[in-house]
Amino acid sequence: MSVVAPTTSAASAIAEAAEALEAGRLVAFPTETVYGLGADAENPAAVARIYQAKGRPSDHPVIVHLAPGADIHYWASDIPPMAEQLINAFWPGPLTLIVKRAAHIPDAVSGGQDTVGLRCPSHPVAQALLSSFKAGKGGIAAPSANKFGHVSPTTAQHVEEEFPQEILPGGLIASVLDGGQSEVGIESTILDLSRLATHGPVLLRPGHISAAQLAEVTGIMPASPDATAPRASGTLDAHYAPQTPVAQVSASELLPLIATLCAKNKKIAVMSMQKTVTDELLAHRQMPAEPVAYAHDLYAALRDLDHAHADVILVESLPQDKAWQGINDRLRRAAFDSRHIVQTLCAD
Ligand code: TXA
Ligand code: MG
Repeated sequence: MSVVAPTTSAASAIAEAAEALEAGRLVAFPTETVYGLGADAENPAAVARIYQAKGRPSDHPVIVHLAPGADIHYWASDIPPMAEQLINAFWPGPLTLIVKRAAHIPDAVSGGQDTVGLRCPSHPVAQALLSSFKAGKGGIAAPSANKFGHVSPTTAQHVEEEFPQEILPGGLIASVLDGGQSEVGIESTILDLSRLATHGPVLLRPGHISAAQLAEVTGIMPASPDATAPRASGTLDAHYAPQTPVAQVSASELLPLIATLCAKNKKIAVMSMQKTVTDELLAHRQMPAEPVAYAHDLYAALRDLDHAHADVILVESLPQDKAWQGINDRLRRAAFDSRHIVQTLCAD
C-alpha cells in the first residue's frame, strides 16, 4: 500500500496507481465529494473486484469518472444539448449525468441498464490520476470507497478503516491516494438525462449543486424520481449508516430526550448545532450552522461518533429548506428507523 500526500512526491505514486489500474487492480483516490474506489471501467473483471471489495450487489451501476476534456461521445451514445450546457457550467465538479451509454460499455459498469453515469471530478489528485491512466483516454469506474451501505469516506484514513484486509500487500486494493479531506463532503448530485423526451431531467440524488442551480442553466426545474426512474443504490433506505443506530430528533425534543435517556443510563452520542448542556454524553460533535460547512464535516462527524460505541447517535434535525436538501437526504437514510430506535431505548 502506498499512501501519499498531495505534494510533489505524489507524482510517482499517481503514476504507479495509474499503472495498477491499467493492470486491472483497484485504487482508492480522493475526489472533491468523497473518496472513490476505482477500477478500469472498460475491464469487467476489474469492475467486478469493486463489487467484491465493497460487498455490493453486482446489478448496481457505478459512475465513470473522466479526465477534463475527455471525449464523452466515446462513453455515451447520445449527448443531448442539455448535457452539453450542464457540462460547460459544472464540470469539473460534483455533478454526475446519466445518459444513454455507448454499446461497448460493459454491463458491469451500467448494472445491465442502457445508461451510464459520467462525472469529471475537480480534485487535483483525481484529475492527475485520470490524466495519467491510459493517457487521459480511459474512464475510472468508482463508487464511494466504503463497504456497501456504510458512511462514505472523506479522508484516506477512513478508506483504510473501511478496508483493513483489502489494503494489505497482495489484497484487492493496490493503493490509497491521499488528497486530504474532501472539500464538499457529500456525494455528487446525480441528474438523469436519459429519458428527457418523456420525463425531462430527473434529480436522482441531491447534492452540493442544487436543483435551483441546475434549473438556472437548463431553464427546467428537475423532477423528483418516480417509480420508473433508474435504480440508484444511494437512494435505498438504510444507506450511509454507521454501525451505531442513528436517530433524528427535533431541536426542541433533543434536550428532554437526552435527560430521559441519561436517567436510564443509556450511552448517548450527539451531533447538534446547539451546544449541549450535560457532561453525561459519551461523545458530542457541535456542527456548523451553515449547509456547506455542515456537509464538509458530516461523514467525519458520524464516523467519529460511531467510534464512541454509544447506544444511539442523536442527530438534531436540520432546517428543511432547499439549501439543506442534500444533507437532509443523507441523514434521513442514515436515520431511517429513528422513531423505532428512540421508542425502544425509552421503553427499556
Ligand atoms: O460523488 C460521487 O458521486 C462519488 C465519487 C467517488 O465520485 N461516487 C459515488 O458513487 O457516490 P456511488 O456508487 O457510491 O453512488 C453512485 C450512485 C449510485 O446510487 C448508483 O446507483 C448511481 O449513482 N448510478 C450510477 N450509474 C447509474 C446509472 N447508469 N443509472 C442510474 N444510477 C446510476
Ligand atoms: Mg456510495
